[in-house]
Amino acid sequence: MSRRLFLAVALDDELRHGLAAFLDDNVGDGSLPGRRVPAESWHVTLRFLGWCDDAQGDRVVHELAETVDVAPFRVGFAGLGAFPKASRATVVWLGVDRGARQLIRLAELAEAAAVTAGLAEEDRPFHPHLTLSRVRPPQDVTGLVSSFPPFPLTQRVGAVTLFVSHPGRGGARYEAVDEVQLS
Ligand code: 2AM
Repeated sequence: MSRRLFLAVALDDELRHGLAAFLDDNVGDGSLPGRRVPAESWHVTLRFLGWCDDAQGDRVVHELAETVDVAPFRVGFAGLGAFPKASRATVVWLGVDRGARQLIRLAELAEAAAVTAGLAEEDRPFHPHLTLSRVRPPQDVTGLVSSFPPFPLTQRVGAVTLFVSHPGRGGARYEAVDEVQLS
């Protein structure tokens, strides 16, 4: 069976609830532009794998488990940012500060595991972030991004999670199907 897969850091409930409340306090419900990613779908992507058959997905997880050299760590967040740039945003995200070094290393290992499993190389550079909304058509979010305070909560990261993305009318739904433990 072929499924749309990606590797990511899953967020715990405390961080999710904290961030939802922080966004409401600092942005207000209506004023984050675009289509908001629902809180239950928030994650930090390490490697989008795309359509893979089960054997390929298993191979990526196995390779990552064999090579992972990152101990559990804490991830912490910064302010808002936007892709490709704040004056013409298509994605509004929360940046990562604490733990960025470990996320970058995990993304490198995930990339190597994906290529070993036969997937095409990713040519876009990795920027650790948590996508909050997708904006079509692009909008200028310079004011929002520059005035948003840093989000203060952190969480422990003890695993990399393999997610299946189930495309749907109201946006994709993500299901955690496997994990690689950090040690
Ligand atoms: P994001 O983390 O920047 O939002 C699941 O679709 C996740 O994989 C999304 O969170 C998305 O990025 C990431 N992703 C990366 N490349 C993608 C692509 N070509 N298509 C869909 N999602 C992609």
